[in-house]
Amino acid sequence: MTKNTEHHNPRSPEARKRRKRRIRNRRILLGVVLLLLLVLVIFLVLKLSSCHKVPGQTASHNSSEITTIEISTDHQLTSEDFVNGGFSATDLSFEDSIAKDDQGNYVPGTYTIDVMDADGNKHKVSVVVLAKQSAESSEPSVSQKHQVSIENGTTVVDGILISNKKHPLPADFNPGNDPLAEQKVQELIAAMQSHGLDVQNTTSGFRDYTYQEQLYNGYVEQYGVEEADKISARPGYSEHQTGLTHDLINTAGELITSEPEAAWIRENCADYGFIVRYPQDKEDVTGYSYEPWHLRYVGEEAAREIMSKGITLEEYLDVEGGDYA
Ligand code: DAL
Ligand code: ZN
Repeated sequence: MTKNTEHHNPRSPEARKRRKRRIRNRRILLGVVLLLLLVLVIFLVLKLSSCHKVPGQTASHNSSEITTIEISTDHQLTSEDFVNGGFSATDLSFEDSIAKDDQGNYVPGTYTIDVMDADGNKHKVSVVVLAKQSAESSEPSVSQKHQVSIENGTTVVDGILISNKKHPLPADFNPGNDPLAEQKVQELIAAMQSHGLDVQNTTSGFRDYTYQEQLYNGYVEQYGVEEADKISARPGYSEHQTGLTHDLINTAGELITSEPEAAWIRENCADYGFIVRYPQDKEDVTGYSYEPWHLRYVGEEAAREIMSKGITLEEYLDVEGGDYA
């Protein structure tokens, strides 16, 4: 009875002890709960911030929860870009949502695509494809400015066959004299003769690989390789093998070098579709010394532009020339 009385007596020392213990336990419990809440809040904050970061591009996160990434037209967007940012885009065909041009580059603009985060939640990502603005990118490349193709092992640029020390011909390239070039050179010769100039009807036109080899070796024996290379093409590199070239010869059987003839040729050859292929002071570009007698048929339009501008075929077509590679 005494015991019970003591037990129910709130003022007894025992009762005060139990009350203190209860209060202390409640405080501990409250502390633990608060600590857990704090950990939960920190976890959520960290998770949210990592979900909206896509490394590798310029990324920003606006108030409507859309992540924006900026890329250039030639950037190759892959699922990796998104996976690294906490998204899983592998199962979404986001590629189809962004327009591409003929070269496979993205078309500038803003695209909104859906990607998934690691928990399978969908997010909207705004992809801004920026137009290129550098001088380099606005300048078209050689291949964009000119049509380059390989035909029968030869390089053809804008429909014009190029043969120089950087662009050889196959050993078995054996077309013979081009009929149109042959007809035009005879018209040109007739015009020269009508002006009293010294030129014979026979030209040095097509040469096959083997004949050029004999000629070149003869020059090497006579002058050595360095000098021979300035005046004669190695086999497989001569324009004469194209069938589009004619050397003009005077009535004494020599290559034409005399000025009245050479001047007339420079001023009038374009009317017949020819150019003086190896002009003076252009050795670095053509790879050969000045040859006033060596005419190359390119057609009237190209010939007029080349001769009136005083440029070479290499410069006209933007192709590499100069010495052997
Ligand atoms: N004389 C010129 C370069 C040739 O041999 O084709
Ligand atoms: Zn020649």
